Amino acid sequence: MKPLVLIGPMGSGKSEVARILSSSLERPLADTDEMVEKASSRSVSQIFHEIGELAFRDLESLALREALSDPTAVIATGGGIVMDPLNAELVKKRARVFYLKVTPETAATRIGNGNGRPLVEGKEVGKEIARIIAERDAMYDGAAHHVIDAEREPAAVAKSIEQLLQ
Ligand code: S3P
Repeated sequence: MKPLVLIGPMGSGKSEVARILSSSLERPLADTDEMVEKASSRSVSQIFHEIGELAFRDLESLALREALSDPTAVIATGGGIVMDPLNAELVKKRARVFYLKVTPETAATRIGNGNGRPLVEGKEVGKEIARIIAERDAMYDGAAHHVIDAEREPAAVAKSIEQLLQ
């Protein structure tokens, strides 16, 4: 058995889809953002503001490795996890990876004003998320075994992932 890893930009529904999959497949849930927050006793925003994005990326990579050590885990990742090529390579090798693909418009609607998301907070969210998706789309594609249409409700997205597992 391999861990299941969900990748994709902010607003693609990774956390919610992972929660549904974890419950329906009865597999433990891991969320790298939450692991980082717990390990550092700070929110993701605080980490970005107090010690910077690079330090966050190191903590995130550590959390990913820890999460991958459980072959039964369903893992929701932060949207930037694939920016480190070592992470992209690692998940592809060690897990079954699903890219939750959304349009910038859908992601922007779900993100709202970007509160708690330091990369878009205080910026023009629609424009920023479009830039981020354009920059990372090929990286998500490259790291994934499956590309999943994540324009749909999380339950439908989870269902199509479950079907691929059968
Ligand atoms: C980030 C996405 C966030 C979080 C951090 C950076 C990114 O996670 O890890 O704010 O680089 O896209 P979500 O994708 O869960 O919002």
